[in-house]
Amino acid sequence: MGKITAAITAVEGFVPEKVLTNADLEKIVETNDEWIQTRTGIKERRILDGKLGTSDMAVEAVKGLCKKRGIDPNEIDMLICATVTPDHIFPATANIITDKIGASNAWGYDMQAACSGFLYALVTGSQFIETGKYKKIVIVGADKMSSLVDYTDRTTCIIFGDGAGAVLLEPSVDEDGIIDSVLYSDGSGITHLHQKAGGSVKPPSHRSVDALEHHLYQEGKYVFKFAVTNMADVSAEIMERNNLSSDDVAWLVPHQANKRIIDATARRMGLPDEKVMLNIQRYGNTTCATIPLCLWEWEDKLKKGDNIVMAAFGGGFTWGAIYIKWAYDN
Ligand SMILES: CC(C)(COP(=O)(O)OP(=O)(O)OC[C@H]1O[C@@H](n2cnc3c(N)ncnc32)[C@H](O)[C@@H]1OP(=O)(O)O)[C@@H](O)C(=O)NCCC(=O)NCCS
Repeated sequence: MGKITAAITAVEGFVPEKVLTNADLEKIVETNDEWIQTRTGIKERRILDGKLGTSDMAVEAVKGLCKKRGIDPNEIDMLICATVTPDHIFPATANIITDKIGASNAWGYDMQAACSGFLYALVTGSQFIETGKYKKIVIVGADKMSSLVDYTDRTTCIIFGDGAGAVLLEPSVDEDGIIDSVLYSDGSGITHLHQKAGGSVKPPSHRSVDALEHHLYQEGKYVFKFAVTNMADVSAEIMERNNLSSDDVAWLVPHQANKRIIDATARRMGLPDEKVMLNIQRYGNTTCATIPLCLWEWEDKLKKGDNIVMAAFGGGFTWGAIYIKWAYDN
C-alpha cells in the first residue's frame, strides 16, 4: 500500500449576513471608499451579531461540512479550531464546537498562530492522519474580528471582518492531499501586532479597558513590509522544493490581508490573476477563516489533481505555505 496522505475531502464556509461597507465606515471614522479600496482591495466585510461568538459561525460551517460529506458528527475523531478570537480564554472553542454539533467521539483543541492559524492547524491535523491514527479530522478557521477591533481606529477597523471555514481531512493513498509544508515563526514580531491586555501579563482592569488595550494593535506599515516579503518568499520556496513551475500551479490560495500583498505573492510565483483566489473585496481579513473561505467559494472550480499552494502571514510573526494536490471533483 502507498503512503497515507491527508486529503481534504470536503469544504464549507459561513459568513454572517450583516454587511459593513466602506460607506458605512466613512460615517464612523475619517476614511473614504477610494482610500480603502486602493490601499487594501476591500469593499465590504461581514459582521456577526454581537450576542454570538466565534463557535456559532464555526458550528454552521462544520454542520454544513458533515452534511456535504454525508457523515454523522459522531464519526469525527478530532477537531482543531484555529482562532484568535476564542469564545472564552478557556475552555477551548474546539470543545464548544464539538459539544454544539454533537461530535461526542471527537477530542480537539485550539490553535493560536494568528493569521497563519489555519495553515498551522492543517499541518498539525494532517500528522494524525498520516500516522494512521485517525480517519476523520475537522480543521476549522474561524474569527469574530469585530470583537477585537477598535472602531475608532481607522488604520485597523477598515481591514477586518468575521467568518468561519472548515475542511474535512481523511486518509488517501492516491498521492494527493497535503504534499508538503513550510512553516515559520519569529516571536520578536510581537511588538508590531498584538493585543496589549487581557492575557496573564496584563489581566483586564479598568485602566486597560479605558486605555483601549483589549483591541488589536497593529503597526500597519511595518507589518506590511514583513508580510509582503515573507509571504512571497515562502510561496516561492514551496514551489522550488517541489519543482513546481508557474504552469504547474493551478491555484494560489492566499491569506486575504491586503490585495497588494496577494498581488506581490502572485507576481513572485509567476501566476496570472486568474489563478489567484481573491475574496478580500467582500469579506476583508477574517484572520483564520480566509483560506477555508476561499476554498469553499472556489470548490466548484477545483479539479482532482490540481496543484494548489496556500500561503499566509500573520501576527507573531507567523507565516508559511502548504502544497496540496486537490483530491476530488465536485
Ligand atoms: C494597514 C494598511 C492597510 C495601511 O496602508 P499603508 O499604505 O501602509 O498606509 P500608511 O499606514 O502608510 O498610511 C498612509 C496615510 O494614510 C492614512 N490612513 C491610514 N488609514 C487610513 C484610512 N482608513 N483612511 C484614510 N487614510 C488613512 C495614514 O494616516 C497616513 O497618512 P499620512 O501620510 O498623512 O501620515 C497596510 O499597512 C497593511 O495592510 N498592513 C499589513 C496588514 C497585514 O498584513 N497584517 C498581517 C496579517 S493580519
